[in-house]
Amino acid sequence: MSVLQIKVSAQKWAILAKAAEVASIKAYAPYSDFKVGAAALTTNNKIVQGCNVENASYGLTVCAERNCIAQAFISAERANKVGFNALVIYAKQEKLTPPCGACRQVISEFFPQNAEIMAINHLNKQQKWTVAQLLPDAFLPKDLLDKNSNKEKFTGI
Ligand code: THU
Repeated sequence: MSVLQIKVSAQKWAILAKAAEVASIKAYAPYSDFKVGAAALTTNNKIVQGCNVENASYGLTVCAERNCIAQAFISAERANKVGFNALVIYAKQEKLTPPCGACRQVISEFFPQNAEIMAINHLNKQQKWTVAQLLPDAFLPKDLLDKNSNKEKFTGI
């Protein structure tokens, strides 16, 4: 099976990086003081943003990446039409911020396996991974076999 190449221009990556940086300013991170911003490019060529939102019961914290993905559903016409082609994660620190394990799982659900995820910082240091590199052999909707065959199928990506 041939895999479609995903083309994201350098200009689009730069716009996503700026959107992720702007999103990081909005983070609610009083416990870790670690503000993260994310911006994703949807298959409809829209940019959605997210920031981390922490909680006094620490475990309920939601990362910037997952909030960013959730944001896309608000403006989407239908939930099963939501899909993404790129994601940028920004944090203002020397060491780049790769997505956590939970976010890798959620990213795998909505992004093509060959989509690229980029981490960037205030020094413009950057690193890219494909979704498959971040979480090889992810558990995906197709792994639910026919369990949901009579339900509306997710066709977003
Ligand atoms: N965090 C993110 O938002 N994204 C990541 O990729 C790594 C971690 C947040 C969660 C928490 O609010 C803070 O960073 C420290 O872990």
